[in-house]
Amino acid sequence: MAALIRILIAAAAVFPVVEPSFIMSAYSADGGIILHYPPDNVVMEFGLVNISMSLPDGSADIIEVRNNNEKVAGIVPGPGFECFSVPIKPGVNKIQISVLRNGKKVYDKSLSVFRRSDLESKYREPPAGFRKDYFHMRDNVQCRECHVLEARESDKKPVNPESFIVQAFDEKAVISATSTCYSCHKEIASAPYVHGPVAVWSCVSCHDADSEPKYSVKKPDAEVCFGCHREQKNNWAAKKYTHGPVTIGKCAICHSPHSADYPFNLYKSTWDLCVNCHAEKGSGKHVLGDSFSTEGHPTRDRPDPLRNGKELSCASCHDPHASNYPHLWAFEVQTIFELCKKCHYDK
Ligand code: HEC
Ligand code: HEC
Ligand code: HEC
Ligand code: HEC
Ligand code: HEC
Ligand code: HEC
Ligand code: HEC
Ligand code: HEC
Repeated sequence: MAALIRILIAAAAVFPVVEPSFIMSAYSADGGIILHYPPDNVVMEFGLVNISMSLPDGSADIIEVRNNNEKVAGIVPGPGFECFSVPIKPGVNKIQISVLRNGKKVYDKSLSVFRRSDLESKYREPPAGFRKDYFHMRDNVQCRECHVLEARESDKKPVNPESFIVQAFDEKAVISATSTCYSCHKEIASAPYVHGPVAVWSCVSCHDADSEPKYSVKKPDAEVCFGCHREQKNNWAAKKYTHGPVTIGKCAICHSPHSADYPFNLYKSTWDLCVNCHAEKGSGKHVLGDSFSTEGHPTRDRPDPLRNGKELSCASCHDPHASNYPHLWAFEVQTIFELCKKCHYDK
């Protein structure tokens, strides 16, 4: 009984300060267990969603989390608060949170999170009923007890692509310790290829604390990217043709601004990325045209003769960003013959 009163007091202390939509999701208290974040039906852009819950001492032995029926986490809760992040795939993710005590379910909650993706047309727009939820637009008092929510002076770390020091990676622990964002967003930098400013936790170089909504990023992406990548900006602006997605400034359609599984922080390997939008070109038939009765020119699975250590891919012949030739040929070549010669006759 005493425990129950404590929980009710704790809950009462929390409710008056949160927004109505938040109460709806938080008020699913079972055994005093409260899910604070996220609400149901939110839209996310990238591969993670943060979950935070409070569990009264001794109320639970394990928190099991499934996403679309696949187990993604099994957490033994410590006292009080439990915060963790769950990987999400493009489309609807049905997240099931089950809390067990002595082998019995004491709490069960399912939520849907939609991960938007510009790369897959069927996931470009969220289904009806899903919306963006701006966590940082609220006064998250419960979180403040343990986390620092305002960006500090030490979060501003100017990073220049030309003078970026790779050693920064070795000092990751030191640098992340100076970031207020790290304690909640640490998983955002955990994929193998980490973007420069993210490696040093300079989150506020793109996310402006004074913007509305808070921490939103200028659009289109190129506005943000070219702020640092001046060399590319000047280089590509001087070319006659730019690639469709680059023309409309959507750099982040191909590159993760944070971290990714592929070199150059790409969401997919170069070949998969290109074929994602140009499906019919994977065969390489377009390269040889009708003049050869072959299976088509190889476009992958061979070493690139011109780029040491790289695999042949669409980027072996095309520049993904800009070119002086309409088909976006690389190497500044002007005729198809010059292009072939680059690999076949030069050496
Ligand atoms: C009682 C203290 C406490 C409270 C209150 C608290 N947290 Fe945490 N949170 C922690 C601790 C401790 C960690 C682990 C930090 C670490 O490992 O660096 C953490 C980690 C996190 C993480 C990272 C999880 C991961 O592994 O990726 C997120 C996200 C998070 N908290 C969100 C929140 C939110 C949102 C709130 C408010 C609703 C909140 N926390 C309230 C203590 C707390
Ligand atoms: C208390 C933990 C916590 C801290 C500290 C924190 N965030 Fe967040 N942030 C969250 C949660 C929870 C979300 C909800 C989205 C999610 O699940 O990733 C979020 C969402 C965001 C979003 C998406 C827009 C929004 O408001 O939902 C941005 C951008 C962001 N955070 C940037 C930052 C930056 C930059 C910092 C450091 C200055 C920071 N965050 C510090 C917990 C935190
Ligand atoms: C190079 C610029 C850049 C940097 C640096 C950067 N971000 Fe982002 N971030 C973006 C862009 C672009 C978006 C997408 C915004 C949108 O479309 O709503 C984004 C979105 C987010 C979101 C929302 C995630 C979602 O799934 O909706 C979070 C959280 C976030 N960033 C956290 C961080 C944190 C923490 C850092 C520091 C480690 C950081 N970002 C550094 C550009 C950046
Ligand atoms: C705050 C400055 C800053 C901003 C803004 C920024 N970058 Fe970067 N970027 C860097 C730094 C620093 C590096 C690391 C350079 C290196 O590794 O030598 C980098 C590296 C990269 C690389 C990898 C280059 C390589 O050779 O591996 C890509 C791709 C990239 N950025 C794309 C983007 C995109 C897309 C955006 C916009 C969403 C963006 N950047 C915004 C600073 C920035
Ligand atoms: C269609 C997908 C796509 C888009 C859109 C795109 N990139 Fe890239 N980008 C790539 C690929 C693929 C590579 C690696 C090419 C290779 O293998 O050499 C790359 C490489 C890079 C590099 C490192 C190599 C270099 O050329 O300097 C930077 C920096 C970069 N991109 C920035 C940007 C910026 C900024 C934008 C937006 C203006 C952008 N990218 C838009 C696909 C894309
Ligand atoms: C997000 C979708 C998307 C991705 C990913 C993408 N492209 Fe494109 N691409 C377009 C659009 C849109 C156009 C412009 C419309 C058109 O001319 O077909 C275009 C045009 C082109 C053209 C010029 C077509 C012409 O008219 O000559 C080439 C070449 C090309 N892309 C190659 C690539 C390569 C190489 C990659 C991988 C690095 C790639 N694309 C990735 C959407 C994409
Ligand atoms: C060996 C060099 C080479 C490779 C590899 C290559 N291409 Fe091409 N690509 C060409 C040439 C040459 C043309 C011009 C063909 C023509 O004029 O008929 C072209 C034209 C294109 C065009 C524009 C013409 C059209 O029919 O729309 C697109 C889009 C394109 N390629 C995409 C790709 C993609 C995607 C890949 C990877 C799967 C790829 N290419 C791999 C050489 C290459
Ligand atoms: C970026 C380098 C590169 C460019 C540019 C290039 N090729 Fe190739 N080509 C290759 C590689 C690599 C192979 C595979 C060689 C092998 O398997 O040993 C190949 C193989 C071929 C083959 C044999 C195909 C088969 O079925 O095995 C022909 C024919 C060919 N190329 C013609 C061309 C023509 C025509 C052009 C210009 C339109 C061209 N190539 C441009 C790299 C290139």
